[in-house]
Amino acid sequence: MTAQIFTDWAQTHQIRIEKTLDHTLPAADLAPQQLHSAMRYSALGGGKRVRALLCYAAADLCNTELAVADAAASAVELIHAYSLVHDDMPCMDDDDLRRGKPSCHKQYDDATALLVGDALQSLAFECLAHPNLCKNASLQLQMLAILAQASGSLGMAGGQAIDLASVGKPLNQTELEAMHCLKTGALIQAAVLLGAVSGSVTQINALKVYAQNIGLAFQVVDDILDVEADSQTLGKTAGKDANSNKPTYVTILGLATAKMHAQQLYNNAIAAIAPFGDQALRLRELADYITQRRF
Ligand code: IPE
Ligand code: IPE
Ligand code: MG
Ligand code: MG
Ligand code: MG
Repeated sequence: MTAQIFTDWAQTHQIRIEKTLDHTLPAADLAPQQLHSAMRYSALGGGKRVRALLCYAAADLCNTELAVADAAASAVELIHAYSLVHDDMPCMDDDDLRRGKPSCHKQYDDATALLVGDALQSLAFECLAHPNLCKNASLQLQMLAILAQASGSLGMAGGQAIDLASVGKPLNQTELEAMHCLKTGALIQAAVLLGAVSGSVTQINALKVYAQNIGLAFQVVDDILDVEADSQTLGKTAGKDANSNKPTYVTILGLATAKMHAQQLYNNAIAAIAPFGDQALRLRELADYITQRRF
């Protein structure tokens, strides 16, 4: 039997997460209809689903049950969708385009976008809190704690706060790295660790190093694409960082060095999972995808 190629594996799991989210999100005709329709607008039908794919790949390596992986992947994608809805609001990046469509506050309004973020966040935790999810209650509590820490003031929300406070400021590379690790790295790490929840200590320690490196690489590449790609390809406004005077890997290191840095992070990630050999194939392919992607 020939191994399934990466693009087929990724597509299968992208369809899987889309269906799972479709079932998880309240129906658009359920009151309050506008909120539910805006939640579905923001969480369905778009996005690369990289975090879900990382979760499924880590789950496969660590023999985590598929139902647990589904809940974890959904929870992380819901938090991610919420972070994008708020990130685009006028009080943050003020971006009109997201996943090739008007951003949530443009399609609906600011108050709805605020509530969409709130409700998607709550729904994410509900996915992990489901009474029948896990036979091992302490493992399930651990999952809730992983997601809470990754989303909160010492994770994504904290990183976003630093991002907003850094407009027009010449951060050094250490400060920039700290910001990126929180605003983007924390949730990517959570995706991997939630998938790996049934793994051994050795597996989890190695996956943590892998996730830290690809989490940072993900935002370095996002900064590069903001400069190099066009809005149509990205499905979001290109050139936004420079226009908003944000410090990024490109402004601090320049394009060529930023690309070399992404490659170094990729190498570190690959080295961390080398001991797992073929079992880590999907994680290697995902690291490749994250650093080579064009949008
Ligand atoms: C965009 O994330 C925001 C960042 C954290 C850089 P993605 O590039 O994963 O966005 P989608 O989910 O594919 O739209
Ligand atoms: C956003 O970073 C990170 C989060 C949403 C947590 P960016 O502001 O660079 O993301 P994009 O470029 O708008 O997708
Ligand atoms: Mg932002
Ligand atoms: Mg933004
Ligand atoms: Mg960006």
